[in-house]
Amino acid sequence: MEKIGENMKFFIDSADVDAIRKYAEIGLVDGVTTNPTIIMKSGREHKEVIREIASIISGPISVEGISDTCEEILAEAEEFRKWAQNVVIKVPMTREGLKAVKILEEKGVSTNVTLVFSASQALLAAKAGASYVSPFVGRLDDIGVKGMDVVGEIMDIYMNHWYKTKVIVASVRSLSHVIDSAKLGAHIATIPPKILDEMWEHDLTKKGIAQFREDYKKTSRKG
Ligand code: G3P
Repeated sequence: MEKIGENMKFFIDSADVDAIRKYAEIGLVDGVTTNPTIIMKSGREHKEVIREIASIISGPISVEGISDTCEEILAEAEEFRKWAQNVVIKVPMTREGLKAVKILEEKGVSTNVTLVFSASQALLAAKAGASYVSPFVGRLDDIGVKGMDVVGEIMDIYMNHWYKTKVIVASVRSLSHVIDSAKLGAHIATIPPKILDEMWEHDLTKKGIAQFREDYKKTSRKG
């Protein structure tokens, strides 16, 4: 499969500003995704924490509300857009949600269709013109469906038809979710800080460093 364009991006799936700062400092954060549960876990007020994240990260920051109807979603989006210019409106995969996506995207406002669990939902989101779609792989695994298989289907469909919608692999629970996302050509994985921490680790790296240090001491002149 020929792939033209950008390399895979890493978003952080968190509202923990210390973790975001830690990884932003080493250039690993291309964007941030949040949802009401993630904000609740931060223990902070929604607007305040999103504004602080926006002061750290210039890439897209997904913000999700609780509206049902298209009109309510549009009103909520207007409010979120006042918080920071790089806010992306996270919209649930519903009929009203996709109606709002179409209107927002036509106005130049980026949207992220969330709570996507099937290729057909992802196809509808792309048809509506969403900038991003978020399949939840961990939650699919939880119900015995292979989340990464669904991502594979979505990637095939988007590549076959040149959809501009970018796939954000979400509900990432393991290193293999990240690696499989990369292998499948997913545009983005949104990764919780705990999994990002695990990505660095390998026992043989630690062991190798310790051994090289010991051996260095044996060959360096004293005094
Ligand atoms: O990006 C969506 C994600 O936050 C949901 O993750 O682990 O609650 O399924 P999880």
